[in-house]
Amino acid sequence: MIIKRLAIFASGTGSNALNIIQSFSSLSSIEVAFVLSNNPSAKIVNAAKEIGVNVELVSNEEVSTGKAIVDLCKREQIDYIVLAGFLRKIPSELIALYPNKIINIHPSLLPKYGGKGMYGANVHAAVLENKEKESGITIHFVNEEFDKGEIIAQFRCPISEVETLASLQEKIHALEQANFPTVIKNTIEHD
Ligand code: GRF
Repeated sequence: MIIKRLAIFASGTGSNALNIIQSFSSLSSIEVAFVLSNNPSAKIVNAAKEIGVNVELVSNEEVSTGKAIVDLCKREQIDYIVLAGFLRKIPSELIALYPNKIINIHPSLLPKYGGKGMYGANVHAAVLENKEKESGITIHFVNEEFDKGEIIAQFRCPISEVETLASLQEKIHALEQANFPTVIKNTIEHD
């Protein structure tokens, strides 16, 4: 069996990154090669090291110029990249090298509540402000247009009359934890 090598890019807490690492630890088809972060003090950096996963730190400048990341992914023979709360724009060279092989998760039902400034609590605040009846998560491929790559899967949750920012965040978090690793696995295995 050919083992697919995965890189996870994360800038923050990394609950999705950790969930993916744990879910894939017993798989023989996919191997997490490293976690890449632009934020040396991100929780995920220590958490990944603690469980023995390689961590690659890059500067924001290296993210925007792209070359260092492209070279790293080539050298490490990466097949797929997962963005799990990675807050910088992905360089064009990397997108060109990995067409439909970079997978992102977004905490809304795209195309709604995507684009500039729409991340983290901003997304949920806007959803509540507009009195939406439902929200959810979108797992999609990354292309040149921010939050507009081909959608792989969406999962929904209802919004109650008494929904708060915290309760909506919890619902979205639960959807992410329940579904992201499976969707990545299915996407990679059916490639
Ligand atoms: C998640 O809500 C994800 O949808 C978004 O960023 C958040 C990352 O959370 N892209 P975590 O760092 O994985 O806990």
